[in-house]
Amino acid sequence: MKDSIIPPAARWLPHGTFSGQVALVTGGGTGLGLEISRGLAHLGARVIVASRSVEHHAALVAEGRERGWSVDSRVLDVREPTHVERLALELEAQGGVDLLVNNAAGNFLCPAERLSARAWRAVLGIVLDGTFYCSRYFGRGMIERGRGQILNVVATYAWTGMAGVVHSASAKAGVLAMTRTLAVEWARHGIRVNAIAPGPFESEGAANNLWPEAGMKERIAEQIPLARFGSAEEMAAHALYLLSPASSYVNGECFVVDGGLSLGRNMWQPANGARADARRGRAPRGSPRSR
Ligand code: HXC
Ligand code: NAP
Repeated sequence: MKDSIIPPAARWLPHGTFSGQVALVTGGGTGLGLEISRGLAHLGARVIVASRSVEHHAALVAEGRERGWSVDSRVLDVREPTHVERLALELEAQGGVDLLVNNAAGNFLCPAERLSARAWRAVLGIVLDGTFYCSRYFGRGMIERGRGQILNVVATYAWTGMAGVVHSASAKAGVLAMTRTLAVEWARHGIRVNAIAPGPFESEGAANNLWPEAGMKERIAEQIPLARFGSAEEMAAHALYLLSPASSYVNGECFVVDGGLSLGRNMWQPANGARADARRGRAPRGSPRSR
């Protein structure tokens, strides 16, 4: 495979943007984490992907070997502070981590009244505790070196709420608060902390847990003003931008990348076919001007 085939998320930044930097991406072997890892590696970073299952890392490690990227894999359960500390100490001894991407997550649809205490803890443990443990242990090295970037992954229901995901929404709201808090607390150490809030995009984990039944994905897409799901690559492009010097004055920000889904549309809505009408220069069907 030629390195001239650019991972889509990496197209918008100059080659070598992350040269000399070490990135740790939790959940970096699948979905969004994979696209962020590919982009970082292509743009010159040494990338360490860390999650529970090394099988999830195998394809990226193999791609990295073929393309001459620097990619390593580590087993890590972000819910375990001792595991996170051990990995942080190991990587610190090798020079430390410059870019931390807290991407790992767990999620599933479950009515709040049926959610067991263990199920609540499983999601809170990965999303909220895991993001804190990684930020705390890898952040210490960044503080000592006086530089670093942390990029968290939340979801727009952190502030809108969403039925069926009280665990994830509560955890992501906590991560958003953590993003803003650490952005202020650690700016004096040369560390920026930002977040992205993707709208729905296809990944195996999300498809299995959030739109498991036939027709659900299509029904969600109908509600999106841009009328389609985003892609993991489109989300990853924003993550790379926020980690890059192109966003050097952005701190404590959360970029929404959701095709407009989280914006209010509760009065008039274009009917189906409105986009086609607009292209033809006609007023959308159902709008006052079309009658
Ligand atoms: C109800 C469930 C459940 C479900 C698990 N549990 N799945 N309860 N409905 N579908 C309960 C179990 O019964 C158990 O409680 C408790 O949760 C822990 O389950 P385990 O299987 O032991 O947990 P674990 O092996 O740690 O797995 C973690 C997980 C799993 C979160 C449950 O789904 C996972 O590994 N997910 C990773 C991938 C993922 O979810 N990706 C989606 C990301 S998308 P009891 O009481 O029975 O013992 C995303 C945002 C999407 O985050 C936003 C869209 C807009
Ligand atoms: P995904 O592919 O299922 O990614 C989840 C990753 O988290 C997996 O690689 C998984 O790897 C890892 N992980 C889970 N538990 C872990 C643990 N305890 N320790 C370490 N790693 C763990 O899903 P995705 O859709 O790409 O999600 C990526 C991020 O985007 C998440 O933060 C998610 O909340 C967010 N997001 C997704 C959507 C969407 O529509 N897909 C929308 C908004 C936000 P292992 O199984 O190997 O541990």
